[in-house]
Amino acid sequence: MRSSFPSDFAWGTATSAYQIEGAAQEDGKGVSIWDRFSHQPGAIEDGSTGDVACDHYHRLESDLDLLVKLGINAYRFSIAWPRVQPLGQGAWNPQGLDFYDRLVDGLLQRGITPHATLYHWDLPQTLQDMGGWANRDTCQYFAEYARTIATRLGDRVKAFATHNEPFVSAMLGNLMGIHAPGLKDAKTASQIAHHILLSHGMAVRAMRAATKADLGIVLNLSPTTPATSSQADQDKAEQEFAFVSRWYLDPLFRGTYPSTPAPIPLPDVQTGDMALIQQPIDFLGINYYFRDWCSTDTPPIPAPCKQGCSEMGWEIYPEGIYELLTKINREYKLPALYISENGVACADSIADDGLVHDAQRIRFIEDHLHELKRAIAEGVDVRGYFYWSLMDNFEWSKGFAMRFGLIHIDYPTQQRTFKDSALWYRDYIQRERFGAQQKEATL
Ligand code: FCB
Repeated sequence: MRSSFPSDFAWGTATSAYQIEGAAQEDGKGVSIWDRFSHQPGAIEDGSTGDVACDHYHRLESDLDLLVKLGINAYRFSIAWPRVQPLGQGAWNPQGLDFYDRLVDGLLQRGITPHATLYHWDLPQTLQDMGGWANRDTCQYFAEYARTIATRLGDRVKAFATHNEPFVSAMLGNLMGIHAPGLKDAKTASQIAHHILLSHGMAVRAMRAATKADLGIVLNLSPTTPATSSQADQDKAEQEFAFVSRWYLDPLFRGTYPSTPAPIPLPDVQTGDMALIQQPIDFLGINYYFRDWCSTDTPPIPAPCKQGCSEMGWEIYPEGIYELLTKINREYKLPALYISENGVACADSIADDGLVHDAQRIRFIEDHLHELKRAIAEGVDVRGYFYWSLMDNFEWSKGFAMRFGLIHIDYPTQQRTFKDSALWYRDYIQRERFGAQQKEATL
């Protein structure tokens, strides 16, 4: 096995707009479905909202300096659609566009490569009022937004992802009702998943004409493991993989929906939709957090959880990143891949010595990188790794209780503290980037 990652590997961290920016009602920003949802009583477990979050909007320059201290060479962020186009159609907000200009320029000045995501779940509320993603017109508005951002930032951003995790947008928001907009309707959720994919295709087409940047999409993918070798458990594992992963991989890379039975109705698909969705893209971003453990027993046989569980209750299973990558690499004809998110929530706190000793996170990253290296050694074309997240932030329905960051945030004071894992990640990257170059130079 090769001893190091490719020398031009992207070493990064990831964030998203609603989770860190705050400034929810400033400088002309429009209201998003998350602004609306988080203010509904009972929607967020700890009663919090993203109104202030990490106040990143006001701390842009000093936060960018933290990236330099971290030694990363790539940063994945998202653009809040309602910040740049408050109503989701029509007028643009110059102050919003300006913020992302400054973000991109600030990264480049610091030698860090910008990777932007256009939609990390914060739909303009006015579009939701017209039906949101269930309304096919939203796809057209999204393509217009994508074209404008590509025109504005596409000379400096290396890669644009259209969507983050269409499965989660569609299903947690519209089937399970635990994310914005908080709906529980299977037929609507299915149609929304289709429209999100369609909007991806329309956006890619619109952006190609405006930028030479790489274009792609980010999916949450999980390998599935049957709890026993019974046929029922195996079938369940295949159905679960189809519902969460193939439902998105197949349209993007095969131009069809899987024939495996789905737990929700099929969407209405119009002529030409599948060709639009399937058009070539330059990269696929993969968010890997856990495997899906599939048991048909009652009560279900629990996952072994040998390596522990995170604060989210997610099984820590580093081998899954290897299993997933090698599986999809065998089964699909894929473009370049990135691990666009991978991370763990720990019960972090500042110790008496003023530091945060998050040994569990260090182990988590180290083990996942080991498994990632194994997949790369076997020929999977992975170009970068983005730890989720740069800093603790607003973890959707869980609020601020879940801490995923390399950097600890004390919310009342907004003080930033590097956790042990941040220093460890910095040293790891340093060895990989410069150790590898030294080795090459001496050959
Ligand atoms: C992913 C989301 C990201 C973050 C992590 C923990 O599903 O893309 O915003 O919340 O989970």
